[in-house]
Amino acid sequence: MTTETLVRATTRTLNYGIIGCGMMGQEHLRNIALLDNTAIGAIFEPDAEMRAHARKLAPNAQFVDSIDALLDVEDLDCLLIASPNFRHLEQLQAIAARRPLPILVEKPLFTDATQAAQISEFAATYPAPVWVAMEYRYMPPVAKLLEQADAATGGIKMLTIREHRFPFLHKVGDWNRFNSQTGGTFVEKCCHFFDLMRLALKSNPVRVMAMGGQAVNHFDEKVDGKTPDVFDHGYVIVDFENGSRAMLELCMFAEGARFQEEISAVGPTGKIEAFVPGPGRFWPASLGEAPVPEVIISPRSPKGPRLEPVPVDPTLLEAGDHNGSTFYQHQGFAALVRNEISAASVTVSDGYWAVLMGLAAQRSMEERRCVEMSEFL
Ligand SMILES: NC(=O)c1ccc[n+]([C@@H]2O[C@H](COP(=O)([O-])OP(=O)(O)OC[C@H]3O[C@@H](n4cnc5c(N)ncnc54)[C@H](O)[C@@H]3O)[C@@H](O)[C@H]2O)c1
Repeated sequence: MTTETLVRATTRTLNYGIIGCGMMGQEHLRNIALLDNTAIGAIFEPDAEMRAHARKLAPNAQFVDSIDALLDVEDLDCLLIASPNFRHLEQLQAIAARRPLPILVEKPLFTDATQAAQISEFAATYPAPVWVAMEYRYMPPVAKLLEQADAATGGIKMLTIREHRFPFLHKVGDWNRFNSQTGGTFVEKCCHFFDLMRLALKSNPVRVMAMGGQAVNHFDEKVDGKTPDVFDHGYVIVDFENGSRAMLELCMFAEGARFQEEISAVGPTGKIEAFVPGPGRFWPASLGEAPVPEVIISPRSPKGPRLEPVPVDPTLLEAGDHNGSTFYQHQGFAALVRNEISAASVTVSDGYWAVLMGLAAQRSMEERRCVEMSEFL
């Protein structure tokens, strides 16, 4: 697939309002710009340096100094929330109270189990579409694994996701250094993987058993006199309602690896794997071209693994750190706002489950016990 074939010409220009425009917000701006008939109408970004970066990417946008001022801007068609995790719920609620436009909201939807009921209330009453940014689904090698998993495995029984990557990057105000602001590492970043588990296994989780902690990263840092407390590694095992099982292995001091994510799904007839490289900008030029994603299908009979490279369009690679997935997500979201599709691919319910699984993993690690999902429901 090339960008050209993916960008659908439409007549209506979609005007976006952006809330939070740091690293991820700017990736969104670059990807929205790749779609025809889109414009950035207004941006609320409190940090002057990030505003300056955003202005270069969206020179025609109006910059405002609050959510209220953003919601006063006429002619907005939709909103994107890319602020720090602990702001998402309050901002969804503020938008609901004033001007319920279609929203693309970054993960995680919330950061604390006590907020789950408020998200359910929001989902039940918000009158416009909401899409949760779980973009790992759209990385081409992951999408291919999801598409072919049933045929390759005969129905997945075991799903393993391994992420070996770089430590958390520095964020504005270091908001990502503390569990209280992120929900914990297994909520903050691993909600993507819990979302993939539910999607691939077509089932909801029943119980979670996990071990993990902080072994290597951030001990030498201080933020307002406090040492960061975010975990940097762990194992999480999940039982699903339909009898299938999944496991996540996370290590955040392993950026030397060739691939960042390695996913394997196995069923009665075979196995399928996806190998996903990390951001190309971190691959040293001295090592040549960055690795190309791969999918391997390994039937049990007749034996014979087949490796298929799954290259990503270079234009999309340039536009972000997520193997082109931000573009595909925006393509879907734009179609939703234009009523070309009837529902978000990633619903508030999906975002809610992914956070609950992350919270269950954190609780299991902290309390050293198996956690039933019913504790949260
Ligand atoms: N889907 C993904 O793969 C993915 C990847 C990275 C980050 N994210 C998510 O995107 C969000 C932003 O992360 P980031 O990496 O861009 O962090 P960041 O710190 O680079 O950017 C966050 C921005 O929000 C601004 N901000 C702070 N308070 C705000 C408020 N009250 N209202 C509006 N803006 C505010 C900050 O000034 C900053 O510029 C987080 O929720 C993160 O989890 C998602």
